[in-house]
Amino acid sequence: MLKTLFAALACGLVGSAAAAQACNGNSQLCGKTFDKVAFPTTHNSYAYGDNIAANQNVNIQAQLQAGIRGFMLDLHYLDSTNTSVPYLCHTLCLLLNDGPFATELQNIRTFMDNNANEVVAIFIENDGPFTAAQISQAFVQAGLDKYAYTPKAGAWPTLQTMIAQNKRLMVFTDAGADASVPWLAYDKDYVVQTPYSVAVGSSFGCSPLTTVRPLWVMNHFVYKNFSFAGSTVDVPASDSAATVNTRQSIVAQANACGAAGVFPNFITVDFFDVGALFQAVADINNVTYSSPATPQTAAATSAATLTSAAAPRALLRHAAPMAVLAAGALLGALA
Ligand SMILES: *[C@@H]1O[C@H](CO)[C@@H](O)[C@H](O)[C@H]1NC(C)=O
Ligand SMILES: *[C@@H]1O[C@H](CO)[C@@H](O)[C@H](O)[C@H]1NC(C)=O
Ligand SMILES: *[C@@H]1O[C@H](CO)[C@@H](O)[C@H](O)[C@H]1NC(C)=O
Repeated sequence: MLKTLFAALACGLVGSAAAAQACNGNSQLCGKTFDKVAFPTTHNSYAYGDNIAANQNVNIQAQLQAGIRGFMLDLHYLDSTNTSVPYLCHTLCLLLNDGPFATELQNIRTFMDNNANEVVAIFIENDGPFTAAQISQAFVQAGLDKYAYTPKAGAWPTLQTMIAQNKRLMVFTDAGADASVPWLAYDKDYVVQTPYSVAVGSSFGCSPLTTVRPLWVMNHFVYKNFSFAGSTVDVPASDSAATVNTRQSIVAQANACGAAGVFPNFITVDFFDVGALFQAVADINNVTYSSPATPQTAAATSAATLTSAAAPRALLRHAAPMAVLAAGALLGALA
């Protein structure tokens, strides 16, 4: 009797511990290796707000709270005289400037401190370009380097292992990686990207299949033409997000990858809060969709505050004069 009661108690304890262990919001993901998990990802994550060059509606903190776990960040010189500190800008800092890279990294660190079961990936587009030391310095300044996982040859760890070791952050860069910063991975050693320049109305595929790397970015967003002062620039197509970001459209592209033997890892969209990205990613992961994606914590309560706190900065950014658009037009693409 006592033994039965004890067994029942132990069973109950094990049961509740198992229920509490969720990895990126879902216990079904814990045992999967990093390369077999799909992560909801934002394209140009920092480029938000009411700006012709914006790819997102809300800032990175709000994205984290909503369940985004992959971030694409473009590093630029602030201007020609200040080339030592990376800024998050879209094409030109005059056009859309989200501020210093280290500041956004600090926001990501705060989230990861408060959400110990979350695995996050960052993709750097190193437009400066900056050195590995300069990029690393921003992570150290933000206190985020402590979570960085150094990829090893061979098998990828499970999410559960990354969480247990508290090495829950993967960082890829398209330039500047070197042996001095082991956790800063050169993206072309690990990741294939499907095309990122897809015009409104075109369909998404899964290529280039000739390139064999362990991880895939599945780009699922479109650009449109914007005519200005006799020039045409590519801009993010916010008015297409409702049709592009449907569960059906996203899963269809993932199925095209699946048919080609590819598992898409970073499901990357513009205007992620329009449509059904999180349901689609649950489908791709073959797990039960549960909303909200993020466990609630003290830090999770103030998403509304964060969004409104962003407003003054956004207003500043809108002050970018139209003349700058002409400069953007000369550069060709803002998408
Ligand atoms: C560059 O910008 C950073 C960050 O705003 C600032 O701390 C630094 O003093 C600037 N350097 C120069 C040479 O202007
Ligand atoms: C943008 O304009 C160019 C040239 O006029 C055209 O070839 C292209 O298809 C257009 N793209 C979109 C998305 O409409
Ligand atoms: C999806 O998960 C179920 C169990 O939850 C399993 O039976 C099925 O084989 C999985 N499908 C794929 C394609 O992995």
